[in-house]
Amino acid sequence: MTIFDHLKLATKTQHQSVEKVLIGELKNLQNAKDYANLLHRLYAFYAPVEAQLQNIINENFMPDIKLRQHMHRILQDLSILGYPIKPIDCNETLQITTPSYGLGVLYVIEGSTLGGQIISAMLIKQLNLNDATAISYFSSYKDQTLPMWKQLKSEVLASQEELNEHQIVSGAKDTFDMLRQWLLKSKPLENITL
Ligand code: HEM
Repeated sequence: MTIFDHLKLATKTQHQSVEKVLIGELKNLQNAKDYANLLHRLYAFYAPVEAQLQNIINENFMPDIKLRQHMHRILQDLSILGYPIKPIDCNETLQITTPSYGLGVLYVIEGSTLGGQIISAMLIKQLNLNDATAISYFSSYKDQTLPMWKQLKSEVLASQEELNEHQIVSGAKDTFDMLRQWLLKSKPLENITL
């Protein structure tokens, strides 16, 4: 069993729970402002995480780590929607102290691009969008999504022996948990003045 088989098994129910929360939100989006609100909340959670990952995961170990940044796409979508970013404090910030833990976090972030195609299609339908210009965050790597996922796996597996599997799994579990908690807790921020 590889570390990825282990991760998938160990976080299966957490994936289901966060998926349920997100699908509930997506189905309730009434307009672009609601969608912008969701993007703001995701930015608040992920921006500090992404910054930490870029620091802790070395390019020698993962040559394409710089490509694995997604926050600029949220900013771009918000700007297209006409609701430029307003900072929201997220007190659910993960503390990433080791590369192995960071890889567990990255597993969740990169894995979430796999559901992106389903989410993008839901957004287009739900918001009656004519084009997909404001869904670049959820479309992520587009037709490169699967190759990027396979590449992540091979980069990690190549160094598997140097990594701490326990910490990787903890990083992934904490990320799923904290994201879910943040999405539920920040829901009342619906009235945030965008
Ligand atoms: C509407 C919400 C979501 C849907 C419909 C969805 C759907 C999917 C699908 C279809 C896959 C591929 C499954 C496979 O190939 O076995 C997947 C994988 C994955 N998703 Fe999601 N997802 C959603 C939300 C999320 C979120 C919010 C996260 C994390 C924050 C996430 C993390 C992952 C991870 C880590 C994997 C990789 C699992 C693995 O193969 O190890 N997903 N998701």
